[in-house]
Amino acid sequence: METPYQNHIDKAEFDHVYEPAEDSFLLIDALEKDLNYLKAKKPTFCLEVGSGSGVIITALGMAFPETVCLCTDVNFKACVISKSTAEHNKVSLDAVNMNLCSAFLDEKFDVIIFNPPYVVTDSDECGGTDITASWAGGVNGREVTDRLLDLIPKKLAPNGTFYLLLIEENIPQEVISIMSKNGFKSETVIKRRNRNEQQLVLKFYK
Ligand SMILES: C[S@@+](CC[C@H](N)C(=O)[O-])C[C@H]1O[C@@H](n2cnc3c(N)ncnc32)[C@H](O)[C@@H]1O
Repeated sequence: METPYQNHIDKAEFDHVYEPAEDSFLLIDALEKDLNYLKAKKPTFCLEVGSGSGVIITALGMAFPETVCLCTDVNFKACVISKSTAEHNKVSLDAVNMNLCSAFLDEKFDVIIFNPPYVVTDSDECGGTDITASWAGGVNGREVTDRLLDLIPKKLAPNGTFYLLLIEENIPQEVISIMSKNGFKSETVIKRRNRNEQQLVLKFYK
């Protein structure tokens, strides 16, 4: 998969919006590794929750030009930059300023992607709408992720796939077990150590 053009983003914007980093590129690499699987599924409706600069959903939109791409972020500035990243790469993207994907009512997505705020912090650091929302994950770095896990059974299409980036401190086995109770199978798509962080991308499907 092609890495989207990002030079349109003024460096100063990254004081307010998450700058693409190793975790962002690990998710793109996971999608690339799964490209044949995804092509076989012919996704029509894809969503990235917490899109930040928009590089991941734009990369997906570039690989699947026929697909309708949406993204959300609690940080309004992230929505603006995601939209402009898509435009600079000729991808049609709707960016919606919302909490997770809670305001989508009946929509079901073929692909849902989330690189969450995964850093272990105090609960009261978690839940902002500024740059802190990029990393502050609360207890076990899982507070935001767990809220999305509750929504996945309603928001993922029956034949859909959910890609989630985690680090070891997030206790991936517990996430697998929560999803399994909701009838989802899981696989580790890719794993990489980045300095002191063991990052991995899991995929969930029925
Ligand atoms: C680690 S950053 C990832 C950004 C981008 N996806 C990437 O990989 O470069 C997490 C993103 O999730 C957003 N976010 C945090 N909590 C959210 C929530 N409840 N609903 C939507 N977006 C959220 C943050 O604002 C931030 O842009």
